[in-house]
Amino acid sequence: MKAHLLLLVLTVWLNVQFGGCALSSSCSHPPSKWCSSLDSAVQCGVLKQCLESNFTRSHQTADQVEVGLYYESLCPGCRGFLTQMLLPTWVLLNDIMSVTLVPYGNAQEKPDGEKYIYECQHGELECLGNMIETCIMNMTDDAYLIIYCMESSADVIKAGESCVNLYSPDLSWDSVMKCVKGDVGNQLMHQNALKTKALNPPHQYVPWVTINGVHTEDLQNKAMNSLFTLVCSMYKGTKPAACGGGQRHYRSYCHNE
Ligand SMILES: *[C@@H]1O[C@H](CO)[C@@H](O)[C@H](O)[C@H]1NC(C)=O
Ligand SMILES: *[C@@H]1O[C@H](CO)[C@@H](O)[C@H](O)[C@H]1NC(C)=O
Repeated sequence: MKAHLLLLVLTVWLNVQFGGCALSSSCSHPPSKWCSSLDSAVQCGVLKQCLESNFTRSHQTADQVEVGLYYESLCPGCRGFLTQMLLPTWVLLNDIMSVTLVPYGNAQEKPDGEKYIYECQHGELECLGNMIETCIMNMTDDAYLIIYCMESSADVIKAGESCVNLYSPDLSWDSVMKCVKGDVGNQLMHQNALKTKALNPPHQYVPWVTINGVHTEDLQNKAMNSLFTLVCSMYKGTKPAACGGGQRHYRSYCHNE
């Protein structure tokens, strides 16, 4: 038996014996680094999850299911879908799915010299939120967690700085704002506009979901009801353990303080 598999069996056994709780108070790594070494996985209390994830990855053969989300930073339906459906699903199924977030939605752009001026459905603050999230995606691997943190906060924009500090301590807020106010952000937002305008069929509302680049009413409804079930069912390779059989509840991580 491979050492990897043996470790997996051992951890599963330990988890069964000791209730699956792990100490997490000594975790000093940002989430994208949790699985980068055995030590950090242990410190952050996610060893079992990392081993499972590495195991699935090494056995992965089929193409990942591509989930696209066209949204606006302050639209309530978008925030609900992003925080309650997309992120929890991605945490469990990131080995078999890839996510593309395009914050733009029903915004409008007008050329202004070399740059573009943007108008957003929910006002200037929404344009700012879209831009912050776009810049963050361009600057760190931890973008999804930061965006989740912002979108699940009472004030999406105000939460930005503390969410960045929490999930990507190496990324300075000043550099994010430099992107937001500068040419890079402006160009990146133009790319979002082009991607949104290229949708076929054109989007009629937000959040607008594509699966492997395709939008149908059926896929949209299934994604809204249970993205988790949809991704598991669309994945053509061997289903990861997380997909399980039938009903499944989101795994909860426990913390011993
Ligand atoms: C997961 O895989 C990576 C790359 O193969 C490896 O460096 C890391 O140590 C593994 N993590 C765990 C917890 O086994
Ligand atoms: C960030 O944006 C720049 C400028 O558009 C681009 O060249 C670069 O590839 C982007 N990087 C990432 C990680 O998206």
